[in-house]
Amino acid sequence: MRSLLTLFPVLAIAASLAACDRGQEQSGPSGATPAPSQTSSAASDVKPAAAKKAFIDPEELKKLKVLPARMDSDTNPISDAKIKLGRMLYYETRLSKNHDVSCNSCHDLAAYGVDGKAFSPGHKGQLGGRSSPTSYNAGNHVAQFWDGRANTLEDQAKGPILNPVEMAMPDEKSVLAVVTSIKEYVDLFKEAFPDDKEPVSYDNLAKAIGAFERGLVTPSRFDKFLAGDEKALTDEEREGLAKYLSVGCQSCHDGEALGGTTYQKLGKMNAYADLKDFGRFDHTKKDGDKFFFRVPSLRNIAKTGPYYHDGSIATLDEAVNTMAWHQLGVKLKADEVKSIVTFLNALTGDLPTDYIKQPELPKSGPKTPKADPT
Ligand code: HEC
Ligand code: HEC
Repeated sequence: MRSLLTLFPVLAIAASLAACDRGQEQSGPSGATPAPSQTSSAASDVKPAAAKKAFIDPEELKKLKVLPARMDSDTNPISDAKIKLGRMLYYETRLSKNHDVSCNSCHDLAAYGVDGKAFSPGHKGQLGGRSSPTSYNAGNHVAQFWDGRANTLEDQAKGPILNPVEMAMPDEKSVLAVVTSIKEYVDLFKEAFPDDKEPVSYDNLAKAIGAFERGLVTPSRFDKFLAGDEKALTDEEREGLAKYLSVGCQSCHDGEALGGTTYQKLGKMNAYADLKDFGRFDHTKKDGDKFFFRVPSLRNIAKTGPYYHDGSIATLDEAVNTMAWHQLGVKLKADEVKSIVTFLNALTGDLPTDYIKQPELPKSGPKTPKADPT
């Protein structure tokens, strides 16, 4: 076959085009694949180099999806009143024992939903054992947390408030004592849950936060590209996308968030040395789940380092390089890593600045429990 190809270059081109059509383009060195004809119209008015525009496999591209305007839920229908309350609670430090930690402390909405640290300081500066993932674009994930131990955002929101190293409230009752001591909050719960006999409840508090988080979406130029605007990505970003797809990153990082859809083994092709965190196993206790993690989203990934569940990887280049080797068994060249990173940068979206604006929070009432630094 190879000698035939050398003898008949025309055949070689035809053969590789056919391979492209079948979605089997191999991840050879860039430029080895002749430019397919699909770029001809777009390329006509551009400089000759553009004739070599990277081939993007349409079948593989289909695995990546446009972000929705918001991430709706059947069990927690979104309303303006819920969003308003949820936004306030997201920024509310009085939901923490010492009135000094809120969701926003570790998931800073102005900083793409992260705090930029490997581990996040909670109550009394204590550190947990995992890195804070972003709270953006998380609503449609198959489950929440690195190990997937909460099914929905609403389930998830109940955790950190009572977690002794995070917001450290002793129990649900103490949380509700804070909320009921502030008249504005009681009124807002009534507006947000008008049909409930007891509008102020821990479940409803979590639902309000969840409803707010369901609007935390960051569409980017990549969504325009997916929707058909070829020019939304630069040639370099397209090349990086082509590489991402031909190497196979989308086999795990797929869907609207480029991740969040499955649990996958860390070190699938080449094991990591010294992996201490058992991941999903901690939750399910099934041997087969050891070292499985819920695949993280790659939306805004350039802004959400350090990387991995333990924040052990400092740069995006290193993350991409490590991923290719351990997850896919592929050794990427430096320029291939750079190219994929160029694409990943195009996943940085627009922050919804109005939506995330910190609201004025109501003043404490006479019965509001005091901050407790112990
Ligand atoms: C002290 C830091 C800290 C605080 C405070 C905190 N979180 Fe987190 N958050 C984390 C860490 C760490 C994880 C990952 C833990 C794990 O996977 O085991 C996480 C996970 C999450 C996730 C899962 C995202 C995903 O993709 O899986 C969401 C959503 C989230 N937090 C929202 C919230 C909300 C809402 C609040 C406030 C009620 C909050 N967090 C308070 C540190 C914090
Ligand atoms: C077999 C599944 C799989 C494949 C293939 C895969 N990844 Fe991952 N990726 C994961 C998992 C699981 C994690 C979570 C790692 C952790 O928890 O430490 C991850 C994490 C990442 C992170 C860090 C995200 C964060 O928020 O810390 C980046 C960046 C990344 N992957 C990029 C890529 C790129 C680029 C490719 C293709 C070269 C790729 N991945 C291929 C499963 C995969």
